[in-house]
Amino acid sequence: MTQHRPIKKAVFPVAGLGTRFLPATKAIPKEMMPIIDRPLIQYAVDEAREAGIEQMIFVTGRGKSSIEDHFDIAYELEATMAERGKDMSLLEGTRLMPGNCAYVRQQEPLGLGHAVWCARDIVGDEPFAVLLPDELMWGAPGCMRQMVDAYARTGGNLISVIEVPDDEVPNYGVIDPGAEDGALTEVRGLVEKPAIENAPSNKIVSGRYILQPEVMKTLQSHEKGAGGEIQLTDAMARMIGSQPFNAVTFAGARYDCGNKAGYVEATLALSLERSDIGAEVRQVAERLLGQ
Ligand code: G1P
Repeated sequence: MTQHRPIKKAVFPVAGLGTRFLPATKAIPKEMMPIIDRPLIQYAVDEAREAGIEQMIFVTGRGKSSIEDHFDIAYELEATMAERGKDMSLLEGTRLMPGNCAYVRQQEPLGLGHAVWCARDIVGDEPFAVLLPDELMWGAPGCMRQMVDAYARTGGNLISVIEVPDDEVPNYGVIDPGAEDGALTEVRGLVEKPAIENAPSNKIVSGRYILQPEVMKTLQSHEKGAGGEIQLTDAMARMIGSQPFNAVTFAGARYDCGNKAGYVEATLALSLERSDIGAEVRQVAERLLGQ
């Protein structure tokens, strides 16, 4: 089997303004909104770590410094907790050491493709992952782990897809599917936010990517697409044909926390699974629904 270069770096585009969640996101980044007791961004970082990724690259913007604080040492908090004999495991996964994290700013909101391009110098000449923290991918193994395992066979470019009802398709990037082999689907085309009648399928790009470094050159042209933004989907579409391009259908649950109902669904679903609060939340939910 061919050896593909391992995926060691992940890009997290976190510069978005989060207007859909105003006023909650006026002073805190949307990526810091918690699902129960973990901020959204940490679910994505944990997922990357589980997939063997070592360096987390955050593309941030103004007002996002609490993300940096979240992954830093909180000296006073830690010292006080230790002194009081508190459970230090509550902070598990929140410390990224220098060398394991990097922050770069996207100075203007020009689109997802532009955000990824802002990380080009840190990514360098190697394949890398992109994780959109809005999309909470919940499964064991996690979505990126499933992708990295598939990548060991396919190499090239890989995206995660899921099937959604037709009326939701225009909100996402959509693939034109080719041959299928288990969870793998060949990607013949990609289109960003198509009108329903032009959508090639209902398999949508669910915010996880493994990309070859050449995509940065494609993004360099700063060509605008859907919504007048520089779209990652368009840059990927241009690479089809010159490099292998496949999709992995994620085996697990996916919650679109970029919209309010999806966010509430994620909170409820993950709460019900928890050993500490699951039973209580179930009772509450049943009581509320019984009314
Ligand atoms: C972005 C991508 C889109 C993808 C979606 C997943 O869109 O451009 O292809 O399907 O994330 O959530 P956005 O949510 O930024 O509009």
